Amino acid sequence: MYSIETRCIHGEDHKSEDGKFAISYPIYQTASFSHLTPGHNPNGFDYSRESNPTRQYLEETVSSLEGAADSIAFSSGMAAISCFFDYFSPGDHIICGSDLYGGTVRYFDRILKKNGLVVEYADTTDPDSLKALFRENTKVIYFETPTNPMMKVTDIGKVCRLAHERNILVCVDNTFMTPCFQNPIKEGADAVIHSGTKYLSGHNDTVCGFLCLANKGLADTYRLLSKTTGATLGPFECWLCLRGLKTLAIRMERHRENAEKISEWLKLQPCVEEVFFVGSGMISFYVDSKEKALSILKNIKLVTFAESLGGTESLLTYPTLQTHPDVPAAQKEKLGINDRLLRMSVGIEAAEDIINDLKQAMERD
Ligand SMILES: Cc1ncc(COP(=O)(O)O)c(C=O)c1O
Repeated sequence: MYSIETRCIHGEDHKSEDGKFAISYPIYQTASFSHLTPGHNPNGFDYSRESNPTRQYLEETVSSLEGAADSIAFSSGMAAISCFFDYFSPGDHIICGSDLYGGTVRYFDRILKKNGLVVEYADTTDPDSLKALFRENTKVIYFETPTNPMMKVTDIGKVCRLAHERNILVCVDNTFMTPCFQNPIKEGADAVIHSGTKYLSGHNDTVCGFLCLANKGLADTYRLLSKTTGATLGPFECWLCLRGLKTLAIRMERHRENAEKISEWLKLQPCVEEVFFVGSGMISFYVDSKEKALSILKNIKLVTFAESLGGTESLLTYPTLQTHPDVPAAQKEKLGINDRLLRMSVGIEAAEDIINDLKQAMERD
């Protein structure tokens, strides 16, 4: 098998098979495919909600990167998460990491609970503490590692060993690390989620998501569900994500290198109280007052005050208002998401330029 850098570009030794020898895989911008005779479609494609060649090429590439049996490309990360939970039934007990992207918490609290699933938040960073939570009807453990935005890390392998002794599935949101830095399926996870909007597409120009499945049984189940609910990704977005993926490995190296330099620099700044960095391109940090947080957001010039992460451009986010507004105040307080917390998605600009911009923003009021 090729190294990950090569698989980002070529997938599993993919070549375009359309007879035109295009280097860039074509965008099959079609809703439907012709049949030769009833029941006979020569390439196995019927209708693009179910499958499409450009999407299939992308899905095979992502499967190769994540070591998955199959991956399904969705119209957003949230669409992938919601399809994952379509498999479960009212009364099923699901254990979720307590520190998650705010949109995921909103989905659990507003949709899953309304649909009768029993959602329990837990500290997955302490896997042994989960044992006390397991019930007869526990079906899945779902978490991010590192978490958004507090960068807490969970031992995926340990959670999987405990869960699998009881036939409980494990699903890991790998958006922050990407397959370049972490492979949850290799550590035992049954499913992996990506907001492909972030590092995988990588250019702040595409919204997409992935559900990667570790085995064929789960893959067959989710192929049926995704075809039925229909939030699969359109051909043009598939192509944009494929183009982004080609540089994923090289971008991730630079994101991490820059983030290392910036986190070291942040630690030395008088207005910075604590820095959270665990080796992706993401950093969260506390400054000494809400006013300082707001003035930094107002004064940055090169770095953009915006939601989202994982693109080539550096972004600074105010989690309490932007990514986590719907998480109950008490839960935010407990997690440490307060009005002094800033989250930075470090881009691939020159690190000195990012540092100089933060410096001038910190020096002004
Ligand atoms: C860790 C994580 N998972 C999932 C999502 C949802 O993805 P999307 O915005 O592509 O729907 C996000 C979005 O910010 C995220 O940060």
